[in-house]
Amino acid sequence: MRGLIMHTPRTNRLLPGLVALAALTLSLSLDAKPAPAAVAAADPNETCLMCHADPAAKSEGGKSIAVDAKVFAGSVHGQMQLKCTDCHSDVSAEKLPHAPKLKPANCATCHEEPVKEYLSTAHAKARAGGNMVAATCTDCHGKHDIQKSTEPASRTNLANREATCGACHGNDAVVKKANLPGGNIVAQYHDSIHGKKTNGKTADAAKAPTCTGCHGSHRILGKSDAKSRVNRENIAGMCGSCHQQVFSRFTASMHGQMRQAGNSAAPTCVDCHSAHRIQQHNTPQWQVDVINECGNCHGGLLTTYRDTYHGQVTKLGFTRVATCNSCHGAHEVLPASNPRSAISPENRVNTCRSCHPGANANFAAYKPHGNPRDRQGEPLLYYTRLFMVWLLIGVFSFFGLHTLLWLLRSLKEVREHRAGRGGH
Ligand code: HEC
Ligand code: HEC
Ligand code: HEC
Ligand code: HEC
Ligand code: HEC
Ligand code: HEC
Ligand code: HEC
Ligand code: HEC
Ligand code: HEC
Ligand code: HEC
Ligand code: HEC
Repeated sequence: MRGLIMHTPRTNRLLPGLVALAALTLSLSLDAKPAPAAVAAADPNETCLMCHADPAAKSEGGKSIAVDAKVFAGSVHGQMQLKCTDCHSDVSAEKLPHAPKLKPANCATCHEEPVKEYLSTAHAKARAGGNMVAATCTDCHGKHDIQKSTEPASRTNLANREATCGACHGNDAVVKKANLPGGNIVAQYHDSIHGKKTNGKTADAAKAPTCTGCHGSHRILGKSDAKSRVNRENIAGMCGSCHQQVFSRFTASMHGQMRQAGNSAAPTCVDCHSAHRIQQHNTPQWQVDVINECGNCHGGLLTTYRDTYHGQVTKLGFTRVATCNSCHGAHEVLPASNPRSAISPENRVNTCRSCHPGANANFAAYKPHGNPRDRQGEPLLYYTRLFMVWLLIGVFSFFGLHTLLWLLRSLKEVREHRAGRGGH
């Protein structure tokens, strides 16, 4: 036996374990009738740890097979006095040495529901499709160090979830290697209003969503899956579960009504706010940016708005003047024909008055989207613009010609004057 051990460095490291195991087996076999109490008292985990507690223990392939007994004892499973073989169910402390390749640890015997839920997730499907980077139980919970989510050190504690998902969705190398959809999402999320709230130690921290607040913990589905919380059809309801007032206003708006009627051209929350870069609404930069989001769908109206004083000024980044939502509302958008609309004939003067205190019906008749190039729709504006343009051309032509003739005449006079002087 000595020779065998000396030959392989692996067994060399396991020497103390093997010796102890041999001693144990020997003592049991020598004692023909072991006291049943004595055998039961021997913790089978100790048997496993004889080899596995060695921090340097490695498998044939060079992979660490070390298990930190202290860490395991402090884990939720150690505290519940689980046996190693409860999870490694194809090993037995009575039949050693065990086979070199074992089946993956089995969680289902005790956690049937989470295992069932996991099987339908985007991660399980990606693994089934061969993408072995996708998260499994151990990526989110750990192996021998699993803690309850309520423990501050747990990977699934609210404060640590960004980092737990971020091991893949926030790691540029993994994002690239596994071609993760959406790119580095943690980088986008971290500075969003939700990220700031959850990362800051504010009273709102627990109320604002981290990754799982919107995606769920065990039911994470791809966004194209109709049952996903982040499927386009379900987004408003998902955000609305926390933002109830906004949700009910949005549902009553033209955009919300169209969505309920199944019109996919209408916007939902993320079209204006984004999903992972959401900013506080009064951030000047966002107030200017959202104009372009409206413009993505209302291109023509963005153009006409840009022609106006309001549009010219916001283009420069100033937000004191009216942006789209100053006149239309954000979640209350309704056509002018609806009496509740902020731009209906009944409400228009008041809408302008919020910034132009002296506004009257006459002032409000000004067209914020007047299109001077539209002869059919805006004949007055069209001909006024045409007149102004020709007036400008006329004035420039007349005075241009006038200046030219004046110049020629002046040159002639200068030349005559010089000639006259030279003659004398
Ligand atoms: C005599 C020493 C020894 C004892 C005792 C022992 N193991 Fe191992 N175990 C090993 C070695 C060596 C390997 C590496 C096998 C290889 O080369 O891949 C290993 C590997 C493993 C692995 C990883 C298997 C894989 O597929 O990667 C698990 C899990 C494991 N042991 C669990 C246990 C459990 C549970 C017990 C107690 C019931 C136990 N072992 C007792 C020596 C031991
Ligand atoms: C709560 C379940 C659970 C318990 C209890 C448990 N393990 Fe594990 N163990 C795992 C998981 C999960 C892995 C990761 C590999 C896999 O999925 O099989 C693992 C992996 C291992 C490995 C392979 C090396 C590694 O770190 O990947 C060894 C060796 C091992 N366990 C030994 C033990 C020993 C010894 C005990 C008892 C002290 C024990 N395990 C208790 C779940 C458990
Ligand atoms: C993508 C990450 C992720 C994966 C993969 C994952 N979990 Fe979880 N799990 C979580 C989070 C986050 C929580 C905390 C949920 C909470 O507190 O709201 C949790 C909670 C739990 C709980 C306690 C609450 C409950 O539902 O009973 C158990 C048990 C659990 N997970 C087991 C598993 C098992 C078993 C697997 C593998 C089949 C698994 N988890 C896969 C993230 C994950
Ligand atoms: C032999 C049964 C058993 C097996 C197998 C088992 N667990 Fe557990 N697990 C428990 C018990 C018991 C608790 C403590 C439950 C409690 O106190 O609510 C627990 C707790 C947990 C928790 C903490 C739940 C919480 O409340 O936050 C997680 C996470 C967890 N287990 C994950 C796993 C994973 C992952 C596996 C597979 C690698 C696994 N368990 C295998 C019995 C088991
Ligand atoms: C405020 C809610 C919310 C939070 C918080 C959130 N997400 Fe998302 N996530 C969404 C929505 C909604 C979508 C779908 C976006 C769409 O349809 O364009 C999405 C899409 C995704 C996608 C798919 C991207 C794509 O383009 O296909 C991934 C991956 C993802 N999220 C991961 C994460 C991770 C990781 C975190 C935490 C760092 C996180 N999410 C935080 C709401 C959220
Ligand atoms: C170990 C790496 C890893 C971890 C940890 C991880 N993911 Fe993933 N995630 C992936 C991979 C890989 C995919 C599959 C991409 C694909 O379908 O090609 C994926 C897919 C997703 C998708 C589906 C995107 C879509 O719409 O198709 C979402 C959402 C997601 N993850 C969210 C999360 C959240 C939330 C967490 C944390 C609770 C998390 N992930 C933790 C690797 C990981
Ligand atoms: C058409 C674009 C658009 C859509 C769709 C939209 N929002 Fe907004 N949202 C805005 C604008 C613009 C503001 C800023 C309003 C302001 O400055 O008064 C805003 C402000 C907010 C605010 C902060 C102010 C407040 O009233 O509480 C929240 C929260 C919010 N939105 C959530 C949502 C949610 C949830 C949805 C989906 C149900 C949604 N938004 C849909 C454009 C939109
Ligand atoms: C788990 C609850 C929760 C979910 C889900 C959620 N939010 Fe929030 N959201 C919050 C909290 C808490 C804050 C910070 C406190 C506040 O300002 O209301 C916040 C802040 C915001 C703000 C800034 C508010 C302001 O005053 O300017 C916007 C905009 C916003 N969320 C939009 C969304 C959108 C869009 C979604 C869905 C994609 C969403 N939220 C999903 C809880 C949530
Ligand atoms: C100064 C107030 C004001 C601003 C700023 C404004 N609008 Fe309007 N909008 C109106 C009024 C008033 C109407 C009613 C029609 C009219 O008189 O031109 C209208 C009409 C509309 C209509 C309906 C047009 C139709 O053909 O039925 C849309 C869509 C619209 N606006 C989108 C936008 C968008 C997008 C922006 C920002 C790029 C914007 N509005 C900026 C006041 C404004
Ligand atoms: C994802 C595309 C999309 C986005 C983003 C969007 N809208 Fe709309 N909106 C629509 C569609 C589709 C309609 C239906 C009528 C139409 O086609 O003009 C509509 C209708 C309207 C109407 C009523 C038009 C009428 O007929 O009188 C107004 C006003 C309006 N939107 C303003 C806005 C404002 C302001 C924003 C930005 C805060 C915005 N929209 C963002 C798609 C969008
Ligand atoms: C969010 C505030 C806000 C709203 C709402 C608003 N405006 Fe303005 N508007 C301004 C500011 C600021 C200026 C810059 C000139 C000034 O200080 O009076 C301006 C300038 C103008 C100008 C050109 C300069 C002038 O005073 O003659 C016109 C015309 C105008 N607005 C019309 C309207 C009309 C019509 C409405 C209602 C449909 C409206 N505005 C709603 C803020 C607003």
